Amino acid sequence: MNLYIYEQTTSTNDLGKSPSFVEGDLIWAHSQSAGRGQRGNKWVTDEQNLTFSIILEPTGLAAADQFLIAQVTALALVKTLVSYGIEARIKWTNDIYIGDKKVAGVLIENSLSNGVVSRSIIGIGLNVNQLEFDSSLPNPTSMSLHTNQRYDREQVLRRVHSYLFEIINSADIAKEYNSLLYRLDERHTYRLADGTLINATLIGVAPRGELQLRHDSGEVVGYLFKEITFVI
Ligand code: BTN
Repeated sequence: MNLYIYEQTTSTNDLGKSPSFVEGDLIWAHSQSAGRGQRGNKWVTDEQNLTFSIILEPTGLAAADQFLIAQVTALALVKTLVSYGIEARIKWTNDIYIGDKKVAGVLIENSLSNGVVSRSIIGIGLNVNQLEFDSSLPNPTSMSLHTNQRYDREQVLRRVHSYLFEIINSADIAKEYNSLLYRLDERHTYRLADGTLINATLIGVAPRGELQLRHDSGEVVGYLFKEITFVI
């Protein structure tokens, strides 16, 4: 594995597009001027945190199975936090939560060719040492805010990387991912894309990534990422 450290860049996911970065490479920037998040959002963060991307060049991973990369990434983050004594959960699809607060976000950008994933850029924003957050942010937290300790960011980064490559070769990835889901087996409110609020129980995530909710009628419905959001 090669670790590339930048003082400043636009986005480590943008850098990751360069073919000079190969399988296993880790691109870490202390600061990003155009950090990107999910759903077209910006990712703005403090320099006390981590913003980095990991490059994967899978062999033979069918495009239809690309959710596996999200699962492996989420598990690597949870295991890293657990290794520091922090209990964390996976908020579908791959936000990482401590209690009801977000400690990490993931933006995965895959290149597909001939029905397989040829390259994956796994972008991770992990809140490590930040103690104060802008009140406009919905529900952020950090490792430090939770434990009152400061962390060596490079050590944290290397742990995420090594867990990721350990997990990617393991069995039962989907089962483990499901067992660590935020709000698993609990009944909560969700917002559908048209604004409607529903109450339902989260019973798992299907292999292709749909959120499985059981409605009060007993019917189980699978939702795609753009179709539903959690109400927290
Ligand atoms: C989200 O929760 O919306 C995803 C946030 C992902 C942020 C990371 S920071 C490193 C990488 N570079 C980016 O521009 N985005 C990801």
